[in-house]
Amino acid sequence: MIGATTAESQGASRQNPEPNEPLIRLKDLERSYPQGSSRYFVLRRIALEVRDGDFVSIMGPSGAGKSTLLHVLGMHDGDWSGEYEFLGRPVHRLPAKERAQLRNQNIGFVFQRYHLLDDLTVYENIEMPLSYRNVRKSERSGIVCDVLDRFGIVAKKDLYPSQLSGGQQQLVAVARAIVANPKLILADEPTGNLHSEQGKEIMELFRRLNEGGTTIVQVTHSEINAAHGRRIIRLKDGWVEGESAVPSEPPASRP
Ligand SMILES: Nc1ncnc2c1ncn2[C@@H]1O[C@H](COP(=O)(O)OP(=O)(O)OP(=O)(O)O)[C@@H](O)[C@H]1O
Ligand SMILES: [Mg+2]
Repeated sequence: MIGATTAESQGASRQNPEPNEPLIRLKDLERSYPQGSSRYFVLRRIALEVRDGDFVSIMGPSGAGKSTLLHVLGMHDGDWSGEYEFLGRPVHRLPAKERAQLRNQNIGFVFQRYHLLDDLTVYENIEMPLSYRNVRKSERSGIVCDVLDRFGIVAKKDLYPSQLSGGQQQLVAVARAIVANPKLILADEPTGNLHSEQGKEIMELFRRLNEGGTTIVQVTHSEINAAHGRRIIRLKDGWVEGESAVPSEPPASRP
């Protein structure tokens, strides 16, 4: 079981707050790639609002544009048109350096293919987001060791990503995304390569973080994982096809 931090436990014991002010606002967002003499559209006129404290699942068939959308939200991709406001700031008008600052200060990202840095150890990979946040070196080791311990990967801390199994790499990727206690977690199929019990633990961890105030947007193919969130957005061929709220009873009591 991935243990809770004090902050998460405090969050979990509070009334689950309703999401409040907008954290993300997308208007008419489009992403396309050149195709011959025209363009191939991967995201079409996306309008989306995610409030601070929300827990959103993005679902849809393979190729629907889910990862593309997450990369736009994560400010890894800047080659799109339309409007994107994050914490009231117009990302569409920010220079690359300011976007990077906004991202490093606020967002933890779990990539679909992990994207761990191959020449850094597990410990160094998890430490990386703390260095972006100017956490002092002396404080970092305590935080990283705590996360290694909670994820049960202390024994792997000096190994390189290529020396880990796929599932272990995914755990390290999730650990790296949460280590700096970001305001927003963007997770692209974060349990896709995990044993079902480990997958359940990651979803429980996300639920606790969300109850503590962290906003979460996850891509998932699993209705069970989506049931941990508050609402589901369905994408198809780059369009938002629909949106639904998740019933409020705990997932465990659902069939
Ligand atoms: N660099 C690129 N050039 C051209 N097309 C691209 C490029 N990157 C992605 N695409 C296209 O964008 C579409 C959406 O891809 P995306 O990775 O967002 O899908 P997805 O919904 O995450 O699918 P999956 O569930 O398989 O992960 C695909 O049709 C893909 O071929
Ligand atoms: Mg994808």
